[in-house]
Amino acid sequence: MSADTRYAIVGTGNIGSALAELFARAGVEVRIANTRGPQSIGGLTASLGSAVRAVPLAEALACDVILMAIPFTAVEKFGTSLPDWSGKTVVDTTNAHYTPGAPDILKGRLSSHYVGEVLPGAQVVKAFNQLPARALAAPVPAGQGRRVVFVAGDSAEATARIARLADTLGLSAVELGRIDEGGRLIEAPHALVLRNFTEQPLA
Ligand SMILES: NC(=O)c1ccc[n+]([C@@H]2O[C@H](COP(=O)([O-])OP(=O)(O)OC[C@H]3O[C@@H](n4cnc5c(N)ncnc54)[C@H](OP(=O)(O)O)[C@@H]3O)[C@@H](O)[C@H]2O)c1
Repeated sequence: MSADTRYAIVGTGNIGSALAELFARAGVEVRIANTRGPQSIGGLTASLGSAVRAVPLAEALACDVILMAIPFTAVEKFGTSLPDWSGKTVVDTTNAHYTPGAPDILKGRLSSHYVGEVLPGAQVVKAFNQLPARALAAPVPAGQGRRVVFVAGDSAEATARIARLADTLGLSAVELGRIDEGGRLIEAPHALVLRNFTEQPLA
């Protein structure tokens, strides 16, 4: 993806705000939206500086990469926001496991496969879901490495794109392959969820 890639965060709660902080700290431009409109996001954007811009949801949905930071139960409705998600990379930050009723929605599917079904055409990448929001955004003290985030998706190209974005945001991205391969490990409650690793440079 080029330097012109347009990023958007949808959701201004815990994870959306944490992601916005990471973009702001790295100086990477991002739009941010929720259901209530840009005026409801003014407090957040005022604290973060000019890289993070509050926009109407429709403007966020026009972006190339959409970081979907909404409750798992809201995903089906969110999927109807666009008739066709082709050309979009959607980052799935949801943790269905902690949502009451999720098994009835998933019916045995992995959550990112479900997301792919309700956002037809999207390239879905699972990332930024494995840590509590505050831990994800907290700066690692100087000299103590970079925070590790795991990234998985069925499109190798989209997964690599989000891994590069994570690196640009100051994190250390580890690609885990397809959703039904390493992606399982970052689907709560599996092995890599709630594990706060940092990567140190090799001596
Ligand atoms: N909290 C964490 O530490 C954490 C950690 C890892 C992963 N996650 C996952 O991240 C996701 C978000 O969690 P959260 O704690 O950040 O939730 P949250 O604080 O409740 O915020 C949810 C946001 O989603 C927006 N939203 C809901 N439906 C929408 C729709 N159809 N279109 C656009 N925006 C919509 C809401 O908009 P309004 O503001 O307009 O209501 C709100 O801003 C969840 O799936 C959760 O499992 C959370």
